[in-house]
Amino acid sequence: MKTAPMKIKDGIVLFSGKMSRHLMLEPIVSNTYFLEDEDEMFIFDPSCGKKIAKSVKSHMRTRRKAGVKWKKAVLVAGHSHIDHANNFYLSDLTGAGETHIYVHEAGFKGGRVSNEPVAFIRNMIEESKKYYNPYLAFSFPYNLLMYPFAALDVFFPDLAVKLFSRIGAIPWPDPVNGKVQPEPLIQDDAEVMNFGNISIKGWRVGKKIILSTPGHSPCSVSLFWPEKKALFVSDADWIGNPVFMSSSMKDCIDSLEKIKVLTNAGKVDLLLPAHGQVKEGSEKILAHLDFFINRLKFMRDEVLSAWQSCGKVKNVRRLTKALVQGSPFFKTLKLINYPRFVLFIHNVVVVCLEEEGLLD
Ligand SMILES: [Fe+2]
Ligand SMILES: [Fe+2]
Repeated sequence: MKTAPMKIKDGIVLFSGKMSRHLMLEPIVSNTYFLEDEDEMFIFDPSCGKKIAKSVKSHMRTRRKAGVKWKKAVLVAGHSHIDHANNFYLSDLTGAGETHIYVHEAGFKGGRVSNEPVAFIRNMIEESKKYYNPYLAFSFPYNLLMYPFAALDVFFPDLAVKLFSRIGAIPWPDPVNGKVQPEPLIQDDAEVMNFGNISIKGWRVGKKIILSTPGHSPCSVSLFWPEKKALFVSDADWIGNPVFMSSSMKDCIDSLEKIKVLTNAGKVDLLLPAHGQVKEGSEKILAHLDFFINRLKFMRDEVLSAWQSCGKVKNVRRLTKALVQGSPFFKTLKLINYPRFVLFIHNVVVVCLEEEGLLD
């Protein structure tokens, strides 16, 4: 896939491309957005594809050769996942007098952005293990690949997770950082801003506003460009939500409702996700948001009814198995994205039951 720039509208350019190393299965396609507004430029979701970064770099070079000078350059990671918080080195190439990289404070661990692939996978496995055995979650033929890890886990759990995370991280390129240090967006510093009939809470950065839109991850943010009525939502509307243990079904729905309020108030007319197509026009956006909100509620209902019909059992593997067998929706979800969605479905079960207080 090409990562050639695609103009969405004046001042908004999309770079879309696959990750630079092939994943074992379906590669992830990620979007990076390049925004220009007189002497201010933004890069939203500098995704980890090396080709995307190269294209952004050459686009910046072309713009600068054309005589454009930016006073302020801002990189914003929609969240700390490795396909979003990456290629921070691009901030060194803007020639701007003032440069910032922003990531929500929840995306930092030990003072650093948690975007390192091995640590990310390790964390994912360790979180899963509190509720189910991730090495035993797969069926044929991937279970054959996982059995050695399951066996190793019995005697040497640390070694099993260490090996698994190293192997699992192979398809993901390491983050490429530059000289500018990422700054945390502190939740307590978010201010309330009034926009005519509605008020929103976020961080004003130049002529744009960063909004907290958690759910997919606690550190998920969206970038709002009021003049263009454009909202860059990262993974807030991602098809796999709520995908990780750190995800929240409730927050996913609340964030989408928040975007709906902005759209209904006539403040958003362009929705730009990190994975998927750009949506233009309030009617289309509202239909898209409603579809996702209803889908999330339906998923929760399906999980809760599986829990009921399994005698309110707390065994996540058993529940997930029953859910996939009994729900055509989850069965399809597993089949269309096997094996990647296997852990996702287990995580959905945990997140839903946790939020209802049913796993304590
Ligand atoms: Fe993500
Ligand atoms: Fe993503």
